[in-house]
Amino acid sequence: MRGTEPNTKNTALLSVRGLEKSYGHVRALRDVDIDVFPGEVLAVVGDNGAGKSTLIKILSGAVKPDRGEICIGGKTYKHLTPARALKMGISTVYQDLALVDCRDLACNVFLGREPTWFRWFVNQRKMEEQTSQLLTRLRISVPSVRQPVGLLSGGQRQAVAVARTIQQGGRIIIMDEPTAAMGVKESVKVLELIRGLASDGYTIILISHNLHHVFTVSDRICVMRHGHVVGCFITENTDPDEVMNFITGSNDYQTENAVKA
Ligand SMILES: Nc1ncnc2c1ncn2[C@@H]1O[C@H](COP(=O)(O)OP(=O)(O)O)[C@@H](O)[C@H]1O
Ligand SMILES: [Mg+2]
Repeated sequence: MRGTEPNTKNTALLSVRGLEKSYGHVRALRDVDIDVFPGEVLAVVGDNGAGKSTLIKILSGAVKPDRGEICIGGKTYKHLTPARALKMGISTVYQDLALVDCRDLACNVFLGREPTWFRWFVNQRKMEEQTSQLLTRLRISVPSVRQPVGLLSGGQRQAVAVARTIQQGGRIIIMDEPTAAMGVKESVKVLELIRGLASDGYTIILISHNLHHVFTVSDRICVMRHGHVVGCFITENTDPDEVMNFITGSNDYQTENAVKA
């Protein structure tokens, strides 16, 4: 692997070692090692088919790797289950956000985990209060937590999905292309949301195609190609051209040529 190793004294919060996953004869992940440090924004970039989704599915317990290990909370696992990932604080905000548009913000934040009175009656007041508190923490203002989610902007919807992961106990938040299909203004809001989360001590794994966003918001960048991690950089020590060369593999070509020359 090429690139710059993290210059951090912290021990990793989450590490994967030697992860392998094949689908038939397609090797989606090959010997993947990644460390994630507390409070950082780690961007994972790579072309279509590089293995990013497979990696996040393994981290969220949706897919079992064929080989390798996942180390978190002082323990090593061969694979995670969705329940164990959540217990360990790993929570994923998928691209579709999985929001119910016709329900309000508070319902969406607590979907399926509503606080109750005497186990039977939903405690609406508690839901509203906690939703307001979460949104304030995320620095998002909405007219009312009783507003249907379908009426919100793209950035606000992202914030509601993040509020839900935090409410579920998420400390390591994986965000899959959060700014895809968003306008410039909305994207800026989401990038601010990500930075705010990191400064509040959350750890973010950001999957993105947008190198401009990645460079605006990340502390480190991990580049995947053909199922491999081909480079890992401290963001301020690299530039979009270098990262793009690693994504496309044109650095191999240059090196080959340089050797041949
Ligand atoms: N469920 C699956 N069945 C068969 N092949 C898959 C499946 N999931 C992913 N793949 C293959 O694994 C490789 C990596 O895919 P993926 O992890 O989705 O990459 P990315 O998210 O970086 O685009 C691709 O070649 C893809 O076609
Ligand atoms: Mg994908």
